[in-house]
Amino acid sequence: MVEQKSYSGYGLTLIPLTKEDLPTILKWRNDERVLKYMMPSTPQNLFSITFWFNSMKKRTDHRAFMIISDDTNEKIGFIEFKNIHPEKGEGGTASFLNPELIGKGVGMRLNFLKEKVYFDLGVSTIIVYLRNVNDRNIHIWERLGAKYIGMKDDFKIYESTRETRYDAIDVISKERGYYDEWRLFRESVMK
Ligand SMILES: CC(C)(COP(=O)(O)OP(=O)(O)OC[C@H]1O[C@@H](n2cnc3c(N)ncnc32)[C@H](O)[C@@H]1OP(=O)(O)O)[C@@H](O)C(=O)NCCC(=O)NCCS
Repeated sequence: MVEQKSYSGYGLTLIPLTKEDLPTILKWRNDERVLKYMMPSTPQNLFSITFWFNSMKKRTDHRAFMIISDDTNEKIGFIEFKNIHPEKGEGGTASFLNPELIGKGVGMRLNFLKEKVYFDLGVSTIIVYLRNVNDRNIHIWERLGAKYIGMKDDFKIYESTRETRYDAIDVISKERGYYDEWRLFRESVMK
């Protein structure tokens, strides 16, 4: 089992996913507001998600977390980091929120916090596959300066580099009132 740590910042905390969380993420993932953007976009069941959890736990190229709101101490979403290749500096990520909380600004803040995880994992370039109907997520990645690479089936593929993301987060974190916190992190990793 890969040892996992927790991460905090921007009003959010990421804690390692446990088996007890599976019914909750199953409920969120099967909700039509989330399901249509997932890969695969078919409903899962407890058996399939438990199988996924058990196989993922053994992998060194994967990390999965529940997202906690520091304000309410409630679990509000799920995030995974996958295909982590520190030797190439590359990785990927996917996340979904409790569908009731979509569109309230959590996703952008989560992107600030993700940088702590990427840094620890040795990931700087992120390859993202976005369903081409997922306008919200496409908007988020484009705001982060991700470069469009091309299409595969109904997915748009983007490449996102650390330098470009950091420059974008400089701007967005100012808008959202998190610039001081972000700047401290940025300076600490650039030493
Ligand atoms: C993707 C997800 C995690 C983002 O989190 P979120 O809290 O909903 O996102 P935010 O509210 O922080 O940001 C939404 C941004 O998209 C923009 N947006 C919202 N709806 C949009 C739309 N239909 N078209 C374009 N942009 C849109 C908002 O204006 C905002 O941009 P801004 O910060 O520049 O103003 C969340 O929406 C989610 O769980 N979606 C379902 C699952 C999913 O798509 N996962 C990603 C694929 S793995």
